[in-house]
Amino acid sequence: MSDQVRIVEVGPRDGLQNEKTPVSVEDRIAFVKALVGAGLHTVEVGSFVSPKAIPKMMGSDQVFLGVRDLPGEFHVLVPNEKGYEGAKAVGAKVIAVFASASEGFSRANINCSVAESIERFKPVIERAKADGIRVRGYVSCVLGCPYDGEVAPQAVVEVSKALYDLGCYEVSLGDTIGVGTPSKARQMLRAVAGSVPMPNLAMHFHDTYGQALANLYAGMEEGCHVIDTAAGGLGGCPYAPGATGNVGTEDVVFMLEGMGIATGVDMSKLLVATNTISALIGRPPVSRVASALNAKTR
Ligand code: HMG
Ligand code: MG
Repeated sequence: MSDQVRIVEVGPRDGLQNEKTPVSVEDRIAFVKALVGAGLHTVEVGSFVSPKAIPKMMGSDQVFLGVRDLPGEFHVLVPNEKGYEGAKAVGAKVIAVFASASEGFSRANINCSVAESIERFKPVIERAKADGIRVRGYVSCVLGCPYDGEVAPQAVVEVSKALYDLGCYEVSLGDTIGVGTPSKARQMLRAVAGSVPMPNLAMHFHDTYGQALANLYAGMEEGCHVIDTAAGGLGGCPYAPGATGNVGTEDVVFMLEGMGIATGVDMSKLLVATNTISALIGRPPVSRVASALNAKTR
C-alpha cells in the first residue's frame, strides 16, 4: 500500500469543460488560486483544443497566464501541434496529451484512430523534449468505453506503453465513464505495470457509478500513488454521454487523511473553493464529503 500520495487536481479543466454554464476567465483564475491556497500543488488549468469541440475551455491561455506565477505546477491539455504552440507561447512547463484505449472514444473525442493519435503526439512530444516541457499522457476508457463497451487490459497496456516509450513522464489511466469495479481496476493496473513502472502511473477515475474510491483503494494496494481528482466532483467529458465528474477531491482527501496519509490540503479552504465554483455553475457539489460538510454548517 502506498503511504504517500500525490494529488493532481483537474477540476478547472475536466471539471469545467462540460458544464452547461460557462465560467469566465477571471472566475477560473480565482478558482485555481483558491485551490492552490487550499494546498493543491498540481492543478490542470485548461486545454489548448479546438474551441468548436470544447467551447468551455476557451480562454485557457488567459487562465494559464493568470496563474502561472503562483507556487504550483500547472498543466494544460494539448491534442496536436497547434495546441502545443499555444501552450508553449504562454510558457507551459507541463502539457498533457490524451489518447484512448478504445477506437470508438478516440474517434469521437479527437477525430482519429488510436494509432493516428499516437503518430500525432510524436512531434508534440519531440518538440516538448527539445523545449524542456514535460509531457503527461492520458489513456481514456481503461475500464470501459461508451461506444465500444468492454475494453481489454491489453489494449490499455499497449497505449500506455506507447505513451511512456515516447517520453511521457507519467501515464494517467482514465476510467472515463466510471464503470470500473475494484478487481477490474486492480487487474488493469497490474497489467499496465508490467510495461510501465508503477511509480509512473496515475489513476484518473470518474465516479459515475460511485466506485471511484473503492477502485482507488485497490490501486493504492497495488502501489499506485498518484490520484487525479476534481474539487466538488465536478465535470465529465462531452464525448462520454452521461459520465459524471472525477472523484471529488474532498472525498479523496478525507479518505487519505483518515488512513493517516498526509495530503497537505486544508479541507475548510478547499470547501470554500468548491462552494464558490458550485455557486457559479448553479449546482451543489456532488462530492459526498463536500455535501456532508455543507449539511453540518447549514
Ligand atoms: P479535427 O476537426 O480533426 O482537427 O479535430 P483539424 O486539424 O481538422 O482542425 C479543424 C479545426 O480546428 C481547424 O479550424 C483548426 O484550426 C482547429 P477551422 O479551419 O475549422 O477554423 N484546431 C484547433 N483550434 C485550436 N486549438 C487546437 C486546434 N486543433 C485544430 N489545438 C481535434 C481534432 C483534436 C483538434 C479536436 O477533435 C479537439 O480539439 N478535440 C478535443 C477534445 C477534448 O478536449 N476532449 C475533452 C478532453 S479529453 C477527456 O476529458 C478525457 C480525460 O479527462 C481522461 C479521461 O477521463 O478518460 C483526459
Ligand atoms: Mg477525465
